[in-house]
Amino acid sequence: MLPENPNSHIGINATSISQQTTPSLLELAEQVAAAATAIAKQLREKNVAEPRLHPPCAGLPDDPEIKEARQQLLVASRALGVLSHDPLSHLRETILQFNECAALVLVVDWKIAHILELDGTPMHISEIAKRAGAAADEYKLVSALRMLTTQYIFAELKPGYFAHNSSSVYLAREETELLIGHCNEVLVPSAFKVSEAMRKWPASTNPTETAFTIGHKTSSPFFPWLLEHPAHITRFNKIMRVMAESSYARLRSVYPWRSLGKSTIVDLAGGNGHISHQIAYEAPELRFVLADLENAVKDAKETCPVELKDRFEYRVVDFFEKMTIPADVYFMRMILHFMSDEDCVRVVKNIVPAMKKGSRILVADGIIPKCDVMPDPKHRYVFNQNWNMIQIMNARERTFAEVQKIFAQADLRFRLKQWGEAGGPPSSEIIEAVLADEPAVKWKL
Ligand SMILES: C[S@@+](CC[C@H](N)C(=O)[O-])C[C@H]1O[C@@H](n2cnc3c(N)ncnc32)[C@H](O)[C@@H]1O
Repeated sequence: MLPENPNSHIGINATSISQQTTPSLLELAEQVAAAATAIAKQLREKNVAEPRLHPPCAGLPDDPEIKEARQQLLVASRALGVLSHDPLSHLRETILQFNECAALVLVVDWKIAHILELDGTPMHISEIAKRAGAAADEYKLVSALRMLTTQYIFAELKPGYFAHNSSSVYLAREETELLIGHCNEVLVPSAFKVSEAMRKWPASTNPTETAFTIGHKTSSPFFPWLLEHPAHITRFNKIMRVMAESSYARLRSVYPWRSLGKSTIVDLAGGNGHISHQIAYEAPELRFVLADLENAVKDAKETCPVELKDRFEYRVVDFFEKMTIPADVYFMRMILHFMSDEDCVRVVKNIVPAMKKGSRILVADGIIPKCDVMPDPKHRYVFNQNWNMIQIMNARERTFAEVQKIFAQADLRFRLKQWGEAGGPPSSEIIEAVLADEPAVKWKL
């Protein structure tokens, strides 16, 4: 018997859902061809070369005119790839992905990306192994590299000769190495413990009752734990940049920053300030206060670009205490998503005393698509990040409506608006909460 239909309120019944069909192989192939043709046409008109996997190149430009075609290409080509397998192979490939992650960790550990030329010139594996100091384990090294080439990371141009491709060149960057180290040492030990945490602490939103605390055999929540381990917190602060670089263009354009005029923005828990720097370049009249824990503020002071220094001030704060920095805008990126709803309400309430009518809080997180939108590959990042937040903090990414509820619980005068559709680059949608005179609506909390 079918379970009770959860969609009956929107006029869909389970039978009609089960009769719906998804696109056929040929329909998907046509979508792929149409999208690729549209992209190639735009690139030709702009005299930009089409990207290839080898030799290394920058990839598709972040151009609004090809945005839709790129999304169609991503979604349809992914579905086409899955259909090209048999269903069991697709499942097997998914569970085996941990091996590819392990191979990435290995090549970073042996600094392989620094041995190869960044222009994509090939080198024989015995030379690579010798230079890496791993000649005794050449076979293990070649095995890791070959597994990665099947994911289009590195290229084997003729048997035994490996070269950088467009993705692998990023492995030569310190920040990417740090990100892989962080995932391996901090996230992997807890990623498979969520089930255990659910049994141990059902329905918990407590940041000490998580897969993370089980995996790391600790009673400290994620951030305090990082602070107890100086090497981990230093690395964490550095990787925020590599986590965000692909979002810079969207963050600069998704919100009308220049319309804020000569306002002051508090970048609350802004890390090393890299996002504020982007906004500062976009809107030259804005001034910034970077507010974070002591270690992050220290990094932020050291890494501020010279040309922006006179527009930035710094404060050490704890967002669980009342904010006292008067400002037109409080900006928080990747902050509410690592908190339970109760803590989000606490943090927002702490900001309200520093606000006046018309001032606003801007929240940049990934937004979970509305329940009438089927998730597809463009939502992969937000669901991945959602999983990270569940495992490390018993927290989550949220829908617009869920964020709306948090703000209403903090103060009924907030009026919310979403800038940017769900499914963009990491944490690049913005929810704007403006403080009005009066409560906007009667909320049932
Ligand atoms: C995920 S990072 C986000 C950094 C930055 N907003 C970005 O988008 O790259 C979270 C930040 O929260 C800061 N943080 C954690 N606990 C805090 C607290 N109690 N008060 C203030 N900042 C805190 C961390 O130092 C870190 O910089």
